[in-house]
Amino acid sequence: MTRCVVVGRGAREHALAWALAGSAEVVVTPGNAGMAAHGLAVTARPATELDADLVVIGPEAPLVEGLADELRAAGAAVFGPGADGARLEGSKAYLKGFLAAAGVPSAAYAVVDTAEAAEARLGASRPPYVVKTDGLAAGKGVLVTDSLEAALADAREKLSGRAFGEAGRRLVIEEGLVGEECSVHVLCDGERFATLAVAQDYKRLVDGDRGPNTGGMGGYAPVARIDAATLAAIEDEVVAPTIAELRRRGVDYRGVLYAGMMLTSDGPRLIEYNVRFGDPEAEVLAPLYREGLADVLRSAAEGRLGTVPAPKGAAVTVVLAAAGYPEGPRPGDPIEGLGEDGQLGEPLEGVVVFHAGTARDAAGRFVTAGGRVLAVTGTGPDLATARARAYDGAGRIDFAGCQRRLDVARRAA
Ligand code: AMP
Ligand code: GLY
Repeated sequence: MTRCVVVGRGAREHALAWALAGSAEVVVTPGNAGMAAHGLAVTARPATELDADLVVIGPEAPLVEGLADELRAAGAAVFGPGADGARLEGSKAYLKGFLAAAGVPSAAYAVVDTAEAAEARLGASRPPYVVKTDGLAAGKGVLVTDSLEAALADAREKLSGRAFGEAGRRLVIEEGLVGEECSVHVLCDGERFATLAVAQDYKRLVDGDRGPNTGGMGGYAPVARIDAATLAAIEDEVVAPTIAELRRRGVDYRGVLYAGMMLTSDGPRLIEYNVRFGDPEAEVLAPLYREGLADVLRSAAEGRLGTVPAPKGAAVTVVLAAAGYPEGPRPGDPIEGLGEDGQLGEPLEGVVVFHAGTARDAAGRFVTAGGRVLAVTGTGPDLATARARAYDGAGRIDFAGCQRRLDVARRAA
């Protein structure tokens, strides 16, 4: 049996570890209280000290910092790109130059590092205005607004270094794209790629896509409205040229490449790349690919990606976020509705609870300890069943100030 180490501590890693545990021996580092309660092995020892056939690195930060390189240098098979590949996510300015060289369709842009340059560029743009920090900002460095005033204020604030430190000292100002978004994940082995079921993320805090951008408040897969022709266009115009450009640059990209796409009236446009699974996208994709997931990820890590089994059924995830999220999430609120194992107190068929920001207090109760607290996933043969199960499950959990969207997958189901 494959011995697998998963690096990370969020709901994404909980979902990956849970799915991998269907066919592998799994240890998560550092993991979280909910994973341990769920019967997954967690350890505080770093991945560099653990023996494994496969290391799956969940979050972007360790990838950008070169953890995959370090582990590979020591002989490990790693699912996750090296620091060279991770630059696609680590620097928006690098990404934009890369896309231009690769010929991938994406928003027009300018890189600025002074307030004067930002004002000149924004002043000459049309709404929606898009202001991004260059560096990593935990999914919160992007403002999209129809207000020029708000865009200018945001650019000044970011450049001041107050809001995002060094990550914000350089900005990318982009053309605002209009259309429907979707998340396209492709597994890569350095040469070949395989596209997973298209997923939909709900980035705004409030129903109807209102309120601030978040890390993601829910999601579902597969997305039926993306037809085969659109998917083929994304593969041909976006993914394939990206892999080719990576190879031209000598980047041996092994891991998942997550293309955030905007389907505009002029065709698909790449918004951004992430070099890891989306969160909450992983919470809907992992269940669909649970069988044989360890083999598939291992084959990508070892440069011999085979056929990926077809996804099974559908999944919907509802995120329960803490009071005050995203600005200032409140920790310490006791969570009602969970059993000893961190799952629903009364189990429901097809429902699994992935823990993100939870901890156990002195009495052993689960309490909030982060912005996104739990991701409740419902699975089933079709989206309507998956959605009903996800909301049934989520409805049995509560805590003071809990924020959740009620419209995840509503139209699609
Ligand atoms: P990013 O961190 O680059 O994925 O941006 C976060 C979110 O901001 C995206 O998921 C989009 O909803 C939105 N966004 C980013 N760039 C653009 C753009 N050029 N036009 C419109 N919306 C955008
Ligand atoms: N769901 C958005 C992300 O993971 O970046």
